[in-house]
Amino acid sequence: MKLLVKNIRSLVGVEYMSKLRLQGRQMAELNTIDNAWLLVEDGRFAQFGSVEDGMPLLEGIDEIVDAEGGMVFPSWCDSHTHIVFAGSREREFVDKINGLSYEEIARRGGGILNSADLLHQTSEEELYSQAMRRLDEVIHKGTGCIEIKSGYGLNLEDELKMLRVIKRMKETSRAKIVSTFLGAHAVARGMSQDEYVSLVVDEMIPEVGRQQLADFVDVFCDRGFFTSKDTTRILEAAAKWGMRPKIHADELASSGGVEVGAKHGALSVDHLESMTEEEIEILRGTDTMPTVLPGTSFFLNMPYGKARKMIDAGLGVAVASDYNPGSTPSGDMKFVVSLACIKLRLQPNEAINAATLNGAYAMGVSAEYGSIAKGKVANFFITHPVPSVDFIPYAYTTPIVKKVVLAGEME
Ligand code: NIG
Ligand code: FE
Repeated sequence: MKLLVKNIRSLVGVEYMSKLRLQGRQMAELNTIDNAWLLVEDGRFAQFGSVEDGMPLLEGIDEIVDAEGGMVFPSWCDSHTHIVFAGSREREFVDKINGLSYEEIARRGGGILNSADLLHQTSEEELYSQAMRRLDEVIHKGTGCIEIKSGYGLNLEDELKMLRVIKRMKETSRAKIVSTFLGAHAVARGMSQDEYVSLVVDEMIPEVGRQQLADFVDVFCDRGFFTSKDTTRILEAAAKWGMRPKIHADELASSGGVEVGAKHGALSVDHLESMTEEEIEILRGTDTMPTVLPGTSFFLNMPYGKARKMIDAGLGVAVASDYNPGSTPSGDMKFVVSLACIKLRLQPNEAINAATLNGAYAMGVSAEYGSIAKGKVANFFITHPVPSVDFIPYAYTTPIVKKVVLAGEME
């Protein structure tokens, strides 16, 4: 199957020598080809070039798509979401407007525990259909690669239920999905912290491991949730089953999560709203991708992560949506890219790399996704006509996605 996309004003995010991630100054490098064409073969990028240098032979091409002067971007790679959840939590949204903080709501037994109660009463089928609706929504906003966490089950049965839903989504969607076991998202009702951590370590992890339901493990390592000591126990147990960490760190306070994560070879440490300068130093020279979630800062009115400082210090940074019912009820990656520019002070090129190639790295899939490079999976979107790349984050509420192609097929 050969598909040709013609009339592309700019082909953005092109790589000739694929890199697994971009760090420091490299993050500003975003190759583009103007007046371009793109050839996809059997679901992968096969060739591309500018019209001036000659079009490919039309012989053997099965389908031609006219980009009509729009741009082509690699799909967004959203490396941190919680899109499998039941219902919504707009009551807490109003509580927050009335002055309660995210932490106060959690302390009063709301927050994650509310979502867990609701998920408990929701059938696996219904959970799947709600999550697929969210996935469909973000796919049409340009996301082609997404990480999804468990963490609203908080008991063995319901955590497995969530992970089975993610597994079914992997099997039915053309989007690339990776799954993360986040049993340690909150302490379940009626249990002590130690009892719950033991349940995660002794029962949940071995069962998730045996059934091979998770690619990664996560812990909400933060003030009022899990300590670095709890986190260490959980990461050590998960390592025995080959689950690499991607952890929640420093959202509410500098929590030691960055250090524990780096020590255990985390693929990413995420949130980082309260990160310190010392923690930036800890990440230097590691394989860990710091991942900032500006939508969470926006929605909770909290400080923004120090992405600018990290890039200036030579680190790579990813941005992700954190789509979840409590702290970020949105998976709009274009808005995340705008926030990365407006609030994190990233240049548009840096923000786009943070939301594509570096996001793919933070899911362990950047050899196959995250840029337009020969041999990579053909996940991309075609925009409506836009005047420049910088227009995308600048026009922060203008919809830009016109057509979406995943694994070489039109969505
Ligand atoms: O990433 N911080 C922990 N977990 C989510 C929020 C989950 C919720 O409130 O439902 C987050 O912000
Ligand atoms: Fe999260």
